[in-house]
Amino acid sequence: MSWHSSVPAADVLEQGSMGVEVDGLRLALFALDGEIHATGNICTHAFALLTDGHVENGCVECPLHQGLFDIRTGRAQGTPVTKDIATYDVRIEDGIVWINTE
Ligand code: FES
Repeated sequence: MSWHSSVPAADVLEQGSMGVEVDGLRLALFALDGEIHATGNICTHAFALLTDGHVENGCVECPLHQGLFDIRTGRAQGTPVTKDIATYDVRIEDGIVWINTE
């Protein structure tokens, strides 16, 4: 287990998504139905930050070529994206988002 503190949960819930750098990784935090989820922030197709994309129906749309990823599972939803993004366990402690990078 390798847990790292990141940002206040309230900020993520208010903004809907937020990019963070934790343990040398560029990660994305997304708020869905009042819960916070962590995924890789770099699209698996080419270089784009998913936190610059649009979130709808539990998926984030890559801003570059509109590839879709399920935020809860990281699953790529079809071309042009074929490789899933990583997902990470999250817990909230004293209002701070902690992310497990292992
Ligand atoms: Fe994300 Fe192409 S870079 S779909």
